[in-house]
Amino acid sequence: MEPLYALLLVAGGVPITILLLSFLAAIYYDVSRTRIPPEFDHPLKLRIIFWLFIMTFIVGKICEFLGICKQVDFIRFVISFIKFKLDPRLFSKDLLFNGVPVRVYQPKAPSPGRRKGLLLFHGGAGQIGSIDLYQDISNKIATAADTVVVSVGYGLSPEHLYPSQYKDCLTATIHFLQNAEVYGVDPSQVVICGDSAGGNFATIVAQKLTERPDLPKLRAQILIYAGVQAMDFNLPSYVQNSAMPLLSQENTVYVVLRYFMKDLSLQDDILNGSHVPDDFRLKYGKRVSVDNLPERFKRQGHGQVPLAPYKPEVYKQVPELLQVTFSSIFAEDHIIKQLPETFIVTCEYDVVRDDNLLYKKRLEDCGVKVSWFHAEQGFHGVLNFTDFSFLSFPAGVEMLDQIVAFVKGL
Ligand SMILES: *[C@@H]1O[C@H](CO)[C@@H](O)[C@H](O)[C@H]1NC(C)=O
Ligand SMILES: *[C@@H]1O[C@H](CO)[C@@H](O)[C@H](O)[C@H]1NC(C)=O
Repeated sequence: MEPLYALLLVAGGVPITILLLSFLAAIYYDVSRTRIPPEFDHPLKLRIIFWLFIMTFIVGKICEFLGICKQVDFIRFVISFIKFKLDPRLFSKDLLFNGVPVRVYQPKAPSPGRRKGLLLFHGGAGQIGSIDLYQDISNKIATAADTVVVSVGYGLSPEHLYPSQYKDCLTATIHFLQNAEVYGVDPSQVVICGDSAGGNFATIVAQKLTERPDLPKLRAQILIYAGVQAMDFNLPSYVQNSAMPLLSQENTVYVVLRYFMKDLSLQDDILNGSHVPDDFRLKYGKRVSVDNLPERFKRQGHGQVPLAPYKPEVYKQVPELLQVTFSSIFAEDHIIKQLPETFIVTCEYDVVRDDNLLYKKRLEDCGVKVSWFHAEQGFHGVLNFTDFSFLSFPAGVEMLDQIVAFVKGL
């Protein structure tokens, strides 16, 4: 064989072999590790998405092993091919809000008065996700709710370490509150909204803003399957959905440790709760008690699973996990009492479902007005599969419609 042909064959063959092998590995991983309950309506679609996810993770790992690039960079690279067009009814502008990249979406149609404004903090475990990836969601909220949307491109970990994610979101929010009129927005009608990790940042931004009486008060916060506590990873929703794609019980702790750049071997101890000091359990244990869940959710999983005995050497390595700038459910009453009206969105098949239900209870106990939408067929991440051709899920569409309806009703 001519050397050139041989070279081409190798050059083409290697990636194809890697793809094939990673596809087989993804299916193996899926079959051996995941469990989708029979009540879930679209198991095959979900599995296909999950295979693509796992393949991306595996090829990323291989690249990292070969020293080509870091796994997280490879995942971001693949995701960067997912593109959504700007809705022609909108203008968009890429700007810096006090140094934080944002994209502002404004409806082209004239408005009789000033509009509402909504800051969007995207999900992705603080490590992936982007303004581009959430353009479809921004389009939808801006057009359907006739709202100015500010999508915030906070810095990602590991390049930007905790707590810079919520700080970027806070900086962008403060800038927008102070300059809302420039964008035709009524500063008393500003809402923050986040999903998954972005929902976590939203809870913290809202809490931090209670210390700023000099600024207009937020009109509302919208929390979509937000993580709000890292104390108990065995709540009923964690146990019920322990092997559910796209986010399993184990992977939740894994991505949290990756986010904080901590030793991954701590995973099992944290899953068991050995990182929680005894005095912390005494003081705050009630806030994550199964007793605080609505009746029907108490029965899922195994009820309250006790935390494993405290190991100070574990806590010492991850004190950030229980800080209020991550586990926002542990904020004090006088802060929670000042929070704005809240819309909470949960999914049945989601490990962090109970985090949200407990936060809802906490807000209600402190007198905050809360509305709640529960997607019976939802899973973690469903929101970004609303506009994904044949891989779209009705639960994602329904959820987005509910969010739009909430914003319109404010
Ligand atoms: C979808 O959303 C989840 C959580 O919000 C995030 O972790 C994930 O990276 C997103 N994935 C894609 C491909 O949009
Ligand atoms: C966590 O708990 C499980 C079940 O009780 C136990 O088998 C395992 O050894 C524990 N892991 C660690 C690291 O303590």
